[in-house]
This record gives sequence, structure tokens and C-alpha cells, in this order.
Amino acid sequence: MTDSRENRARVGISFTVNGQPQTVHAYPMERLLDVLRQELQLTGAKEGCGEGECGSCCVLMDGILVNSCLVPILQAEGASVVTIEGLAGGERLHVLQEAFLECGGAQCGICTPGMILAAVHLLNGKPEPMPEEIREGLAGNLCRCTGYSQIIEAVTEAARRRTTA
Ligand code: FES
Ligand code: FES
Repeated sequence: MTDSRENRARVGISFTVNGQPQTVHAYPMERLLDVLRQELQLTGAKEGCGEGECGSCCVLMDGILVNSCLVPILQAEGASVVTIEGLAGGERLHVLQEAFLECGGAQCGICTPGMILAAVHLLNGKPEPMPEEIREGLAGNLCRCTGYSQIIEAVTEAARRRTTA
């Protein structure tokens, strides 16, 4: 396929990422994960399995937790996407980022961006979850390093700080 024919196969997709309007020219079935990482240089979302099983690529799309490895970019048209890069407020880390750091919930870091976004999603729906509810809320996110106890501790601590702030 020539360059010009390739370019004709691409479509313009406009959406919002971390509050910034973006327009990309991509193949409709290109994965949101690849567009974020390669076109927009937002490399926080990681590719683990590439099959919707590990959660390392999680982002929020219109407030819903999605595996960006399974989302064709066409589906993002008009959507509001939040990645891990959008959580901190300037120099100030998000309360979940602080708690993960302090509780040892981030070790190798591969799962961490997706895990934190899953935790954001969880706390948005359930501000004071019990440990079992945290396990359930993060069940789609796999971690090879922590054994999960530090992650549950971090989410519990973040919830406590949010409700007492
Ligand atoms: S890389 Fe998307 S779920 Fe594993
Ligand atoms: S911190 Fe390494 S996979 Fe979770």
C-alpha cells in the first residue's frame, strides 16, 4: 500500500485526554493503548497481556474503567479519557499515588498505573470500601510483586485520607 493510500485509510478521531482536547489520525481499529503510548507519548498505561486479562493498560473512559488494549480508537471519539498522567495536580500527587508510595503498593511498577486507576474507579463508587470490596474492585488487575496486601493497605489508607480531609 502506498503512503497516500495508507493515509486515506486513517480517520481523524477527536477526544479529550486528561482534560486536553486531542485529534489523532489513526486506523479505526488501532488500539487506544497504542494511540496513547505512541501518538500522544502517554506511556503510563502499560501493555502486559494485550488480551484484557491483566489490567496493566487500564484507563478511565467517560468514568468507566477500560482495558485500553481492547478499545478500538474509533470508540474513543468524543470520549473523555483519563490516564495515570492526569491524576496528579501539578507537583501534588493524587492521594492514591501518595498512599501507594508510602505503603509499598508499587514495586516493579508495571501494574501500578492500571491498579491506581482501578482504585480511583473503585473509590468513586464506594468511598469507604472494606478490604474484601477492595479485592473485588481490583480483581481485574494482576500484580506479580506485592501479594496484594500492600495494595489493599494503600487503597484503605487513601480512602481514610479522603474521608477525613
Ligand atoms: S495489556 Fe490490557 S489487559 Fe493486559
Ligand atoms: S508492582 Fe510489579 S506487578 Fe505489581
